[in-house]
Amino acid sequence: MRLYINIDHVATVRQARRTDEPDPVRAAVLAELGGADGITVHLREDRRHVQDRDVELLRRTIRTPLNLEIAATSEMERIARDTGPHQVTLVPERREEITTEGGLALVDAASAVAPVLRGLAEDGIRTSLFIDPDPRIVRRAAELGAVAVELHTGEFANADGVDRARQVERLQAAAELGRELGLAVHAGHGLTYENVAPVAALRGCEELNIGHSVVSRAVLVGLERAVREMKQIIRLAREGAAGAVEERGAAGADGP
Ligand code: PXP
Repeated sequence: MRLYINIDHVATVRQARRTDEPDPVRAAVLAELGGADGITVHLREDRRHVQDRDVELLRRTIRTPLNLEIAATSEMERIARDTGPHQVTLVPERREEITTEGGLALVDAASAVAPVLRGLAEDGIRTSLFIDPDPRIVRRAAELGAVAVELHTGEFANADGVDRARQVERLQAAAELGRELGLAVHAGHGLTYENVAPVAALRGCEELNIGHSVVSRAVLVGLERAVREMKQIIRLAREGAAGAVEERGAAGADGP
């Protein structure tokens, strides 16, 4: 399981004063030292946090892969193709939203996504679509030829009790369908130190994107430590899940 750290909110603090600190490029290097497997930034059309200069410098500075989140527009496609990140995740964008609210509406509105996907693929950029864990949309993402889907974990994060268990089942089913259709499966949004374990344990999921919770903790304990602690929780959740599968297998083999 790879952990990609989204450092948008380091840029949010900088933009609060329109100054040059804290620098997300420095933050990315610290996140890497803490064990991040990749760095994610969302270049929004309104440039409310990450700026074009950040994307350019990150591309040249970091040692791990850069995952650039963008809306499926021709302006953003051009920036992505000029920059050449390892991966682009296409996300829906509304100016009024505080953060990305839902997955891409691929069933009714795939027309903007398809040409951008093709353009990125032409340049050898790995493509991912941020979608709700809905089987119809997973199928549509595969039809469109994306390499990966990032399953939106926002509803899971907002749920509790029985509903949360149901959301985990929904994510698991979407992850399995994605794998059957040949997609790589990622997940993210709203994940925290408290709720990440069941998502980290999803079978077939290979990448998590986590931002706000890690940057919030970093304000108190430092970014390197905040990333290391998140990695440790994910590792333990993965090991626990693998252990449970092995136990079930052994019980099946030795059982009556
Ligand atoms: N994945 C996607 C596609 C996102 O848009 C975001 C938020 O920018 C995240 C993951 C990270 O969400 P959070 O900041 O809640 O961890």
